[in-house]
Amino acid sequence: MLDDLELDNLEVSTLAKRPGVKWALATARGALPGWIADMDFPVAEPIRNALTEAVHSDLGYPVWDDGVTANPLVEAFVERMTTRYGYAPQPEHVRVFTEVIQALQAVLHVATQPGDAVAMHTPAYPPFVQTLEKMDRRLVPIPMVDTEDGWFFDADRLAADVAQHGCRALILVNPHNPSGRVFSRGELSALAEVAQRHDLLVIADEIHAELAYEPHQHVPFATLAPDVAARTVTLTSASKAFNLAGLRCSVADVAPACVRAALDALPPLLLGQPGSLGVFGTLAAWRHGESWLTEVRALLDRNRQLVAAGLPPAVRHHLPEATYLAWLDWRALGLGDDPAATLLTGSRVMLSSGPDFGPGGQGYARLNFATSEPVLTEILRRLREIGS
Ligand SMILES: Cc1ncc(COP(=O)(O)O)c(C=O)c1O
Repeated sequence: MLDDLELDNLEVSTLAKRPGVKWALATARGALPGWIADMDFPVAEPIRNALTEAVHSDLGYPVWDDGVTANPLVEAFVERMTTRYGYAPQPEHVRVFTEVIQALQAVLHVATQPGDAVAMHTPAYPPFVQTLEKMDRRLVPIPMVDTEDGWFFDADRLAADVAQHGCRALILVNPHNPSGRVFSRGELSALAEVAQRHDLLVIADEIHAELAYEPHQHVPFATLAPDVAARTVTLTSASKAFNLAGLRCSVADVAPACVRAALDALPPLLLGQPGSLGVFGTLAAWRHGESWLTEVRALLDRNRQLVAAGLPPAVRHHLPEATYLAWLDWRALGLGDDPAATLLTGSRVMLSSGPDFGPGGQGYARLNFATSEPVLTEILRRLREIGS
């Protein structure tokens, strides 16, 4: 199916005409894009069909606006989580949002106060770092530690830091962006133990779950135990695995009753809601996108190996266990705190700047490898020029 769409033969000349921010901004800067987390692969056929059908039939108010009919995303989300992970959110706890970032901000807004401390693994997805700054929540870093065996964190140190800072919440991004770690059941249990002991609200962003590579298995945090589930808000979206970020649609399992009540007390449309195309695109992805996802995951698996083999030898990195993002340590090359700035002009490749990822980001840059082989090969060739 994907061969018909020339999935892996996409050339720069074609991609450079794309209107989305990934290519538009890089092209304007005379560079190839390896930055923002969008994939270059064509939209899955079932999603294209669903969107086309909607455009050709009815773009009026959707049926779930009648106040009686449930948003079909609720059932689709519960079904997908149950079949993939044995995780069965209660339908009446599920809320829809336009974006995972919006859902995270809404939950922080209703469930924490300015000045509250919030723990999060660092380096961290930049919008979450910025969110905590903007909302005046204190970031308590859970540093990811680079070891010979990959990225790990020290749960004992976390327990001490949570106690010392009086944390109210834990933001858990699993699989983790940017390290690509899929946290093990043991690691998650250690986090759950700290959350229980210190009565933390857990906001579990599991948006990259479907991009885990064998043999790594995603374990939803809410499946650890019923009392863990009861303190967890799980966030997800089809936007990463199916490359639909522009459709603006996400889903949350808001298990804690007090958070649900606080969200439900907001004026009903204050946060807006996903448009019908977002809903139809997500439904098509979750119900009919499996063969596309399987093929894309295989290509991404191949690409992560190409990255490992094709980086400048002095650049340190660990093979990501999930995601199409490679977190690269450029410090041995002496490119300063923000290697992405040097690489943009020196290599004409646009990476994500490490310092934007908060503590632990200096000297690093993140590479998005979700592109065709010819483009990735050229990106790696350019990066090697500066590393040689
Ligand atoms: C960990 C993580 N959470 C959330 C998002 C963004 O999701 P959304 O576009 O639904 O806000 C991303 C995008 O890259 C991400 O990596």
